[in-house]
Amino acid sequence: MNHFHYIEGHLFAEDVAVECIAEKVGTPFYCYSSATILRHYHVFADAFAKIKPLICYAVKANSNLAVLATLAQAGAGADIVTMGELKRALKAGISPKKIVFSGVGKTKEELTFALESGIYQINVESYPELCALEEVAIKIGKTAPVALRVNPDVDAKTHAKISTGRAENKFGIPLHDIDRYIQKISSSSALKWQGVAVHIGSQLTDLAPYREAFSQLATRIKTWAQKGIVLETIDLGGGLGIPYQGETPPLPTEYAQMISEVFHDFQGRFILEPGRMIVGNAGILVTKVIYVKEAAAKNFLIVDGAMNDLLRPSLYEAYHEVIPVKSSSQTFDKQVDIVGPVCETGDYFAQNRGHFPYVEPGDMVAIRSAGAYGAVMSSTYNSRPLIPEVMVHGDQFAVIRPRQTYETLLSLDLQPEWLQNK
Ligand code: LLP
Repeated sequence: MNHFHYIEGHLFAEDVAVECIAEKVGTPFYCYSSATILRHYHVFADAFAKIKPLICYAVKANSNLAVLATLAQAGAGADIVTMGELKRALKAGISPKKIVFSGVGKTKEELTFALESGIYQINVESYPELCALEEVAIKIGKTAPVALRVNPDVDAKTHAKISTGRAENKFGIPLHDIDRYIQKISSSSALKWQGVAVHIGSQLTDLAPYREAFSQLATRIKTWAQKGIVLETIDLGGGLGIPYQGETPPLPTEYAQMISEVFHDFQGRFILEPGRMIVGNAGILVTKVIYVKEAAAKNFLIVDGAMNDLLRPSLYEAYHEVIPVKSSSQTFDKQVDIVGPVCETGDYFAQNRGHFPYVEPGDMVAIRSAGAYGAVMSSTYNSRPLIPEVMVHGDQFAVIRPRQTYETLLSLDLQPEWLQNK
């Protein structure tokens, strides 16, 4: 459920007309509904009420400080993958005790900052990384809380670019190789083995791959327990899908039930890292039609947003529903492609949409489910300034990131001395 709806033919975000926001900030812009973010967070947390996990929101999905503060105030922790995300999480008021650090390429500088910040857990993904972590821990006189991220070699049955749990993917440690990691940790006073982690991919719409991966882990945890090794944490990653185009992903309650079944005798703390399911459907990208270009087979709606603002359709052939901001009783008789002005054929938001509501230049459309992996993946390609982000809260709205000015954009580049004063 989300809080984007029509009132008398006009699209609203909660109690604010999208047209009012457009008047204030211009187009294109991202618009997030804080009620939707909180609803999704609470639905997820409530589903797990029995096992009381640490819910570490995956900051990479949407890292705007206002989004993070909204979730921090609801009690969420954070799953971070860079020093930048850690700085954001801390700035938004998330306690370091609720932060876990994932990712395959953490640098010594990042590991040092994480240890100095006192974060809860560092999920290690390779042997050299474990050695680097030990080195920095010794150097600054701290003990590093380690979880070993396992690669279970399971096909998550999602898009190849967001599948992470196969042996051929760069992520995690193969189970057959894990003993040397355990030996290394137990022989080091600077490392503390706290848990295991697994994350097999994103936008999963079926529980079966999760069950397969988690079962492997549960079996291994039992054999460790027989040797007297009792883990404090099991981090099950994120990945629960959302409906973009009528998919029916598992409900959080079904997911929670499966986890309780698979790990029924685990007494420690679960960590979950949902990203997309918290913020995905809590955001839209609003863009204005510049031209309607009629071609032989279809019409192109050329809009002012582009692939640099929302990359998902170009990068993953992702489907996003597109709706008019002012509803229309007529439809185009030809199919439409909704495309941006960037000089690439791959610059589209939607292709071959039939019966698309009739819109004219100057009208706006909203691209739905753009709250996750939207603004965070944007760029200034074609020297297009970054677009604003707006958050709605009931009948209020606030700009939570202003539109980048051309002045700022150009000021990022510097002329070398030899080109100056010519
Ligand atoms: N934990 C780890 C270790 C992850 O790598 C990810 C996502 C998550 C949690 C959160 O997964 P989620 O619940 O959001 O599915 N840009 C792509 C998605 C990349 C996901 C990367 N890792 C997209 O737009 O679909």
